[in-house]
Amino acid sequence: MAVRIDGKALAAKVKRQAAAEAAGLPRKPGLAVVLVGEDPASKVYVAGKERDCAECGIESFGHRLPAETTEESLLALIGTLNRDPRVDGILVQLPLPGHLREEAVIAAIAPDKDVDCFHPYNVGRMTAGDPVFLPCTPAGVMAMLDEYEIPVRGKRCVVLGRSNIVGKPMAALLTQRDGTVTLCHSRTEDLARYTREADVLVSAVGRRGLVTADMVKEGAAVIDVAMNRDESGRLCGDVDFAAVEAKAGWITPVPGGVGPMTRACLMRNILTAARLHQA
Ligand code: GUN
Repeated sequence: MAVRIDGKALAAKVKRQAAAEAAGLPRKPGLAVVLVGEDPASKVYVAGKERDCAECGIESFGHRLPAETTEESLLALIGTLNRDPRVDGILVQLPLPGHLREEAVIAAIAPDKDVDCFHPYNVGRMTAGDPVFLPCTPAGVMAMLDEYEIPVRGKRCVVLGRSNIVGKPMAALLTQRDGTVTLCHSRTEDLARYTREADVLVSAVGRRGLVTADMVKEGAAVIDVAMNRDESGRLCGDVDFAAVEAKAGWITPVPGGVGPMTRACLMRNILTAARLHQA
């Protein structure tokens, strides 16, 4: 029976540390949160991030913009936030409405305020092993592996999903920790052949029921990044939790696993930015 990784408890610990650090700074750290449009899931995520800020003694500046907002006016807002000394971090919630180019918007954020670690400058620094910020979800996963003393060095690590937000940076961080990393995706042939070999399996695809017990090695660490809904509307991940829990060595629940850690790592990044700006 797997050890359940308690993301909620670890996130609370990380946030307590962030709050203590924030209290020690000469000026309250600030996060600007930009939400364009009415995506219901994004609204929930953004509200959660603002709640975390309040808990950690971080000021949040909310900017709710209509779905029809032009790229020009969004870029103008980002320019203003880049110059605002109260704002240490800028978070533009993704996905953006289809007429807005995410790459252009991300590139407009000042790299020293890019607390999501999405800007090409920060992606480069992170990939080169000299990070300013760490991408929130992959950093949260690494913190969970560390907390539970799950070995990575020399181990077979398999990441499912190659998104810029999770899969690619997750593979980079595991590689830096001397894992032997395979990045699988929707075009991978015979997925189970890879997952069955994994000592550490991270799934970030967004397909309920993707990872079944026969695909998991006995004793493996199974980290479920996905946030799906089942037919009755309940949150669930990619992993068939009950069956895999009986076989794995460690497993993260959904909810209460990776999600809270992502948000806690955002708080850590805001503190990093605030220290940069207040040094
Ligand atoms: N959409 C889904 N995850 C994220 C995230 O970590 N940051 C932002 N800005 N948008 C997201």
